Formats: sequence, structure tokens, C-alpha cells
Amino acid sequence: MREREVVLAARGVAKSFGGVEVLHDVDFEVREGEIHALVGENGAGKTTLLMVLCGVHAPDRGATELAGREVRFRGPADAQVRGVRTVFQELSLVPALSVAENLYLNRAPAGPFGILDRRRLREEARRVLGRLGADLDPDALVQDLSRSRRQIVEVAKALAAEARVLLLDEPTSSLSEAEAEVLFQVLRQLKGEGLGIVVVTHRMAEVFAIADRITVLRDGRVAGRFERREATPDEVVRRMVGRDVSQVTWQERGAPGPVALEAEDLWALPRVRGATLAVRQGEILGVAGLEGSGRTELGLALVGAIPVQRGRLRVFGREVRVASPAHAARLGVVCLPPDRKELGLFPQLTVADNIVAMILRLLSRLGILPKAAVRDTGEAYRERLRIRCPSVLAPVSALSGGNQQKSLLARLLAADPKVIVADDPTVGVDTGAKAEIHRILVEEARRGKAVVLISSELVELLELADRVAVMRDGRVAGVLERPHLTEETIVRLAAAG
Ligand SMILES: Nc1ncnc2c1ncn2[C@@H]1O[C@H](COP(=O)(O)OP(=O)(O)OP(=O)(O)O)[C@@H](O)[C@H]1O
Ligand SMILES: [Mg+2]
Repeated sequence: MREREVVLAARGVAKSFGGVEVLHDVDFEVREGEIHALVGENGAGKTTLLMVLCGVHAPDRGATELAGREVRFRGPADAQVRGVRTVFQELSLVPALSVAENLYLNRAPAGPFGILDRRRLREEARRVLGRLGADLDPDALVQDLSRSRRQIVEVAKALAAEARVLLLDEPTSSLSEAEAEVLFQVLRQLKGEGLGIVVVTHRMAEVFAIADRITVLRDGRVAGRFERREATPDEVVRRMVGRDVSQVTWQERGAPGPVALEAEDLWALPRVRGATLAVRQGEILGVAGLEGSGRTELGLALVGAIPVQRGRLRVFGREVRVASPAHAARLGVVCLPPDRKELGLFPQLTVADNIVAMILRLLSRLGILPKAAVRDTGEAYRERLRIRCPSVLAPVSALSGGNQQKSLLARLLAADPKVIVADDPTVGVDTGAKAEIHRILVEEARRGKAVVLISSELVELLELADRVAVMRDGRVAGVLERPHLTEETIVRLAAAG
């Protein structure tokens, strides 16, 4: 078989931000008809490399090559015209527009007289969605779609433009395993059509499920290249972090304390319909459920982030009406929301300022010199969560996605809450940091905090949770306790009915 052609490559690429070099002489290539996984810890330079490859950043040194020829993209639009399409960590869809309109944003097929041809728009959209095997209505508004469906629209949007290369930055971070599999099916199909595909992901199982080749970035350098068939996950992770990573495994802790947070027949329409659960001090209560089961919305309802129509909420036995997440925080209940876009970081503020955002008033009330206290608190959490940043006084917007996520977790912990509601707290964080966050949640539980861990990853629940409440159709269908807590019992309870 002839060697497949390299469609897109970086040759000796270096890139700096504000005098700090974050990519050093990186060589990387993707061939036609292959899926190439790009992996590495948070801040390793994966997103930056993709941005160079798609013309958002110009390299400081080195070059990019398209089909064997050196190319200087004049910007992302230029790269797009030449068939290099990107799906970034942050989705770029317009919620108020339909699926079809999003697919052809800026390039809507015009009829005679240049008037938008709606019928053609819809037909074109249907054709692209059909190619993906995606069962999506072109007329549906994007705002009405689940996160996972938006992700598929995002890929379809890239395809609508006749791509030769597809660059995907953490496309599955908000998808369940089943939904990710749907996306992979689409990617395999496209690979069969000859597209070169680069996928950035932190999930090792995914890498080994879809990639033909693997490139490991570490501190802005290529630290390993593998043919997938010749590699093992352990080997790849070791190249990523430079050490062995030991996973947290569940261990019996002392008997939990009194009930800290309790929901009784809670309704938050449309997704939460009569959910009842209770979490005790010193306990990690897992919440499982399929996408659409209401698991995410239950978390939001617990902290007043979405309106509750009916039911009771009790914090340490006292009935409360939670008006907003800020109100919940004053009651000692904090929430790590699922959506990066709603993370609520203040991009222009420093890492340290973001970390102390919830306790600023407390610090100043205690008469503590804010500046030094802010920096010290920031430093303490930077170390504890291994947040990778040039300085805690750097703007949080300069951090990589995973490190921004860790900064938000730091903010919650700094507030010293009694109850932590965390929705997929390790989505988008690297293998090492994931183990770190797991250890921190266990530590918080051991210190007497009540932890509600909502997760799309069964393994995560099995490793951490003392009990797991399984959501189905907006209610808690059952609570599984050890030793009856297994992958199989969770799945069966989540899908039954
Ligand atoms: N616009 C920017 N300004 C300043 N620094 C930046 C900028 N973009 C990225 N960096 C820095 O470059 C480094 C690499 O970041 P990058 O986003 O490429 O990492 P990543 O591998 O994608 O990480 P993650 O897994 O967390 O998404 C980080 O240290 C980050 O702080
Ligand atoms: Mg990134």
C-alpha cells in the first residue's frame, strides 16, 4: 500500500506569548485518512499547536505545510478556505439560530437576487447531517439542543465547508461515553473518505478506541510518537506526565455524619421531576444517569441556578429557599457547574483574584491586607491543585482550559463550603490533574465535607462515591450502596423502564 500523503504539518514550530515560549520546535503531521490523537497535560501546548495549524496564530519560528507545500495562512478564514477546519474547546454556535443556519453561517447559499434560499439551505443541511448519520432536524434551534447534539452540529458545520483536515479540540469533553461513540462513528466515516483528523482528548480510552497514531506533547515539546497498535495507555501517560500516575481507589471511611443537604420531591422543570436525595457530612454521594436524565439540572437546582417549582430543600435540617448560587454559597453549598462557558471566571482578573473571589469580603472584614493575602491564598491553591501558570498574578484568561477549570475548583474550596456539588469536575483536565482532583474530593470528604459528585464517567463514580443515586426521567430511580455498586447495576438502573 502506498504511504498516505501528509495533508497538514508543523515543522519546527515555536510560539511565545508575552516572552514565554510555550511551543519549542514542534514537528507534527497528519496524513490523509488517519485519526491522529494529540495528547498531553493541561498547558502542554495542544490548543496552541492547533491554533498554529489553523492559522489563528502565526508561528514565531518554523513553518506549516499544506499537502507538502509551505503555507502561511493569513488567518483562520484563509485556512478554512483551503480546507483546514477546526472545532475548538469553546463551541462557536449561535444559540438563537437554527441548525441549518448555523451550518451555513456567513456562507448561506443565496438564490437569485442574492436572497437567502431557505429551501436550499435546509436541503444542504440535511445532506451534511445525513453524511454524519446524525438524526438532527435542520430547523431545530441550537439553543434547544443538548450539549452533545451541539457538538455534532459543530462537526457538521466544519464539514459543510468541504474540509480536507479536521482539527478537534476536546470534542468529547461534554459528551457521555455513548454520545462520544456516535461522534467517533462519524469521525471514522470521514477518515474513510480520506480526511486527515486530529483529535485532542484527555480520555485515554478514547485515544485507544479511535486513533491510528498518537503524539504526546509535554511542556511544549514532542515527548513521544506512537503507532497506536504498538503503544499501551500506561506508556503514553508516562510520557505525558513523566511519572507513573496512581489512580485513587475507593476506601472505606468512617461512618458519615448527619445529613448536610437534603432534597425532597424537588421539581425544576422540564428535567427534574420529583427528585429526592440526601448527602451526609463526610460522604461522597455519586449521581449517575444518562444524558437527559436530569442529573445536571438536579445539581443546578440544588444551588438555585435554575428555578425550582416544587419540593423541599434542607441544609443541616433547616428548610431553605435558595434564590441563587450566591445565596447557596452563603448557606455553605457551592457548585462546580458543568459548562465551561458558564464557569464564571473573570477573564481579565488574575488567577489569585479569581481564586479568592468568593471570600474577598471575608478577607477584608478580617482586616487582612488584601493584596498579600490574595497572593498567598492563590499560591496555596496553585500548589495544592498544581495549577500551571507563569504566576498567580497572571490573568486567568492566559491559562489553558484545564488550568482554568482547576482555578474555579480552587475558588470553591477557598470558600470553605460545607457541601460541594461538582458536575463532571474532571472533564477537560489531564490524567495527572484528574487523579489530583479525585484525591482532593476524597480529602474534603474526610474533613467532613458533604460531596455530591455528578458524573458521566462510571469509573469515576466507582472510584470515589460511597453511594450512587441513579437518575432516570428526572427522579432518583434508586440509590446503590456498596457492595452492590458496580458498573452493571448503575447502567441497569439508569436505563430500566
Ligand atoms: N493567549 C495566550 N496568552 C498567554 N499565554 C497563553 C495564551 N494561550 C496559551 N497560553 C499559554 O500557553 C501554554 C499552553 O496552553 P494551551 O492552551 O496550548 O495548553 P493545552 O495543552 O491546550 O492545555 P489544556 O489541556 O488545559 O487545554 C499555557 O501555559 C498557557 O498558559
Ligand atoms: Mg487546550
